[in-house]
Amino acid sequence: MAVSLLRSLAFPRVLFLCVATLCLIPELALAGITRHYKFDIKLQNVTRLCHTKSMVTVNGQFPGPRIVAREGDRLLIKVANHVQSNISIHWHGIRQLQTGWADGPAYVTQCPIQTNQSYVYNFTIVGQRGTLFWHAHISWLRASVYGPIIILPKRGVPYPFAKPDKEVPIVFGEWWNVDPEAVIRQALQTGGGPNVSDAYTINGLPGPLYNCSNRDTFRLKVKPGKTYLLRLVNAALNDELFFSIANHTLTVVEADAVYVKPFETNTVLIAPGQTTNVLLKTKAHFPNATFFMTARPYVTGLGTFDNSTVAAILEYETLNSAALSIRKLPLFKPVLPPLNDTSFATNFTNNLRSLASAQFPANVPQKVDRRLFFTVGLGTNPCQNNQTCQGPNGTMFSASVNNISFALPTTALLQSHFFGQSSGVYSPDFPISPLIPFNYTGNPPNNTMVSNGTKLLVLPFNTSVELVMQDTSILGAESHPLHLHGFNFFVVGQGFGNFDQNKDPANFNLVDPVERNTMGIPSGGWVAIRFLADNPGVWFMHCHLEIHTSWGLRMAWLVLDGKLPNQKLLPPPADLPKC
Ligand code: C2O
Repeated sequence: MAVSLLRSLAFPRVLFLCVATLCLIPELALAGITRHYKFDIKLQNVTRLCHTKSMVTVNGQFPGPRIVAREGDRLLIKVANHVQSNISIHWHGIRQLQTGWADGPAYVTQCPIQTNQSYVYNFTIVGQRGTLFWHAHISWLRASVYGPIIILPKRGVPYPFAKPDKEVPIVFGEWWNVDPEAVIRQALQTGGGPNVSDAYTINGLPGPLYNCSNRDTFRLKVKPGKTYLLRLVNAALNDELFFSIANHTLTVVEADAVYVKPFETNTVLIAPGQTTNVLLKTKAHFPNATFFMTARPYVTGLGTFDNSTVAAILEYETLNSAALSIRKLPLFKPVLPPLNDTSFATNFTNNLRSLASAQFPANVPQKVDRRLFFTVGLGTNPCQNNQTCQGPNGTMFSASVNNISFALPTTALLQSHFFGQSSGVYSPDFPISPLIPFNYTGNPPNNTMVSNGTKLLVLPFNTSVELVMQDTSILGAESHPLHLHGFNFFVVGQGFGNFDQNKDPANFNLVDPVERNTMGIPSGGWVAIRFLADNPGVWFMHCHLEIHTSWGLRMAWLVLDGKLPNQKLLPPPADLPKC
């Protein structure tokens, strides 16, 4: 009675607000709150695998702190830099509507925060709920500077699946015995492939399959007959990962902070930059066993990689656990797909579908304003100063989009655009297709040299884009997890070999394609995405395998302002760092 009374009172008021504000904020009654966080960037000694090293962290934590918020909340995160390196933080997957200044990629949307400087990232979470993550976005500092972002639905709004009894972040990363900054510096100097990580980690812990790591094992303690929501994040630099829990089935319910049609699987494939929520239903009765949860890479390229396995332990609690020694219980291990199991990868990604319900529609652009075709892959640059380099045939490894290896400027692209000072910083002529077409997945051309430049692809506000990204076989076909800042996109199609504009679009899924921010381009294949350019600003797009980004597999979009006030980039905050 009281509830219905309240409702009938509230309704006309909401209606009034709708009229007054042209319905821009119909959920004003549920307006979010402001949450404050303080990130102190500082050095911390951390020991894993019997190696102790000083590394850059947030607040001395590895992994870094969790950000917890609700859909609709505003976040004010003050990042203060107390280390010698420059830093910037990216809120990976957050749309940043009109707030591109808070996106974070260094030299793209901001100059990095210098030593003893700080910057307040100020943004609101609009229309998103689920798991995302934050990470450093400069050089390879994200190896130790990352943590989960947990976005709960608005208060009173349920999940579109059974309410979990407990929620647990499972964040994958890597451990390096040496300083990853030295690894990438050396790779870029010599032109060769980088050294690889020494271990993978789950919530910062490598687990018992590595030297010296028995005590550094993540243990998930569960009760029988309950449902756990595992929030999986792949924060590793260079490796896509398979993840599985022995003798348990997982139900995938969300990817990149968008709900999906639930499906069951024993193994999840998660690329760097991707997040996946899964439900774990525990066994009805105490199983008299413990279970490994393991992850190891999915690899398609030709380079060396870290082929080790991280393990955590799923442990059932029981009332008389005092009487039971967990260590005496049998321990089951999951069987993960082979390291190069591309058919598993294809099946898994094909299973991901948008919920496409009335409450959570899939707003796939049905008409297309601009069709774009990008090749992505490796290439080479000549060795400088007539020295010998350690890349292919004495060259330097490079990587490109449409054969352009993207050079970061020494100032930031967004400022240059906003203040009309782009000349000498970037040119607005990124090609809409490769200048020299070739058989992308056939015998690679003899000339593997890339060109280098800072080119942006300019889109008027609200352009609807269809982009096909085509892997090339130059220096080996490879799966590339491409990440787009500032937008989610719909994955409308994928396939192997060369994309065929006459044949392939007929099979596009325009009904319930998965919506996400990071998508693996199949090794030796292509993927087609659609998105609406409804967010003004400069938006980075790059392979989330960090070595490929470092080699130049990156580009940027410039989305122009629209006419209405809520279609324009807001002015920069006063404390925006300077270069
Ligand atoms: Cu998570 Cu530009 O990256």
